[in-house]
Amino acid sequence: MNIILLGPPGAGKGTQARILEEGWGMIQLSTGDMLRAARTSGTAMGQKVAAIMDAGELVTDEIVIGLIEEKLEGDHGGGFIFDGFPRTLAQADALGDLLERHGTTLDAVVEMQVDDAALVARITARSTCGSCGEVYNDNTKPIPADGKCSNCGGTEFKRRADDNEESLRTRLMEYYKKTSPLIGYYYAKGQLRSVDGLGEIDAVAGEIAGVLG
Ligand code: AP5
Repeated sequence: MNIILLGPPGAGKGTQARILEEGWGMIQLSTGDMLRAARTSGTAMGQKVAAIMDAGELVTDEIVIGLIEEKLEGDHGGGFIFDGFPRTLAQADALGDLLERHGTTLDAVVEMQVDDAALVARITARSTCGSCGEVYNDNTKPIPADGKCSNCGGTEFKRRADDNEESLRTRLMEYYKKTSPLIGYYYAKGQLRSVDGLGEIDAVAGEIAGVLG
């Protein structure tokens, strides 16, 4: 099964993608994670996108489509969870073409609905494991009391450079201007499924499982 998790920053896309990977045998493809990895490894592309990401703006379509294209090479029977991609209509068209070229299709687009006040609260309390990327939250999913990641035992945790109120305002604006038109795009294709992303993490996972049926 190939699905897209669609939602504003902090909607819980990464959190739910990891749950789906464990339960459904799909592979998470997060363009945000790929871009952060490129920055860490100091590639020319990573250096080019660093300032754009920190400001909360979107990286060019050409770069992110290229990243996804590389990942679709090879065979993965369990399918993909597209997390943070597509984010523009051009990216959505490109994804459709790429999947067709690989002889597969998109099964569903899950829109995660969360109100803006909750997004700000979630983002400013987020941290991730420096080793495996497990996502934590000071309020709803704190780092275990022994200081070790519950997934890999890692002891270093990071906060993202773009997880501040100023960048978040830009990220939200980018979402409403450039990404939210995808809701209508996929509705018209009959692929849109919407879930309430405001509930607890397990409840949201249950709703997603329900709409994927
Ligand atoms: P990206 O990394 O994709 O960031 P984002 O879309 O802003 O989304 P986030 O990762 O911030 O949030 P999320 O929805 O995954 O939430 P999470 O599960 O972590 O992109 C970063 C940047 O890269 C972009 O700004 C852009 O510059 C660039 N980029 C990436 N893709 C691109 C593309 N396709 N085109 C162009 N540019 C691109 O959860 C957030 C917090 O809430 C966590 O602390 C979590 O524990 C908590 N939480 C999750 N679910 C719940 C719940 N149900 N209840 C309570 N707390 C919860």
